[in-house]
Amino acid sequence: PTKQQLLYEGKAKKIYATDEPDVLWVEYKDSATAFNGEKKATIAGKGRLNNEISSLLFLKLREAGIANHFIEKLSPTEQLVRRVTIIPLEVVVRNVVAGSLAKRIGLEEGTPLEAPLVEFYYKNDDLGDPLLLEDHIFILKLASREEIAALKQAALAVNDVLRLHFAERNVRLIDFKLEFGRTADGAILLADEISPDTCRLWDAKTNEKLDKDVFRRDLGSLTEAYEVILQRLGGESACT
Ligand code: C5P
Repeated sequence: PTKQQLLYEGKAKKIYATDEPDVLWVEYKDSATAFNGEKKATIAGKGRLNNEISSLLFLKLREAGIANHFIEKLSPTEQLVRRVTIIPLEVVVRNVVAGSLAKRIGLEEGTPLEAPLVEFYYKNDDLGDPLLLEDHIFILKLASREEIAALKQAALAVNDVLRLHFAERNVRLIDFKLEFGRTADGAILLADEISPDTCRLWDAKTNEKLDKDVFRRDLGSLTEAYEVILQRLGGESACT
């Protein structure tokens, strides 16, 4: 496919059309944002790291039988994906208490959960991405009851695969966010990205944070942390 007009520019990615109607061209940017865009920075090399890591993880999921939008990596910062219409939900899976869950229910960050927890948030910047109950999703007509059940099941299947994959590489998968979309024929497909921007990843021995909390909480070098994740996943390190 050949790259055509810019369709959408988000906080971390640019999405272009291609000459194939079902295929989009994604370019990962070197920008970092947090707290609904309040904190912003340009971080050289971040686009490459997230593109490489997300490509490896979507390939792993495909091998494990979890259908997703990823087609192929084109360059260090670009990939091809199947076009879907994104469902405006952030599907969060948690294995350990952290972040907004610690704040919401008052358990200490680092407390393991007996079973994975699935939450839905409304992808809506004006509202600040609020937590939704299943009935809210239904009232907002974002998904049917059957689709909500399918999203939850798919999110748990992703967790099973990624939690083990990371554990084998000395990384604890604390929590992560997924987005899903609908294809032209209405099928639900895992989409967006899975990277240290969208996961909490802690070193299995030291519990050192190797994810976007390094940026959110000013804990050190984001690219060094993401580089550790890429290397543990067997990716290529930068040769510049
Ligand atoms: O902030 P919170 O604890 O709810 O985040 C849960 C998980 O979802 C974290 O891994 C975080 O990086 C991810 N997330 C995300 N995009 C958002 C909100 C959360 O990737 N807008």
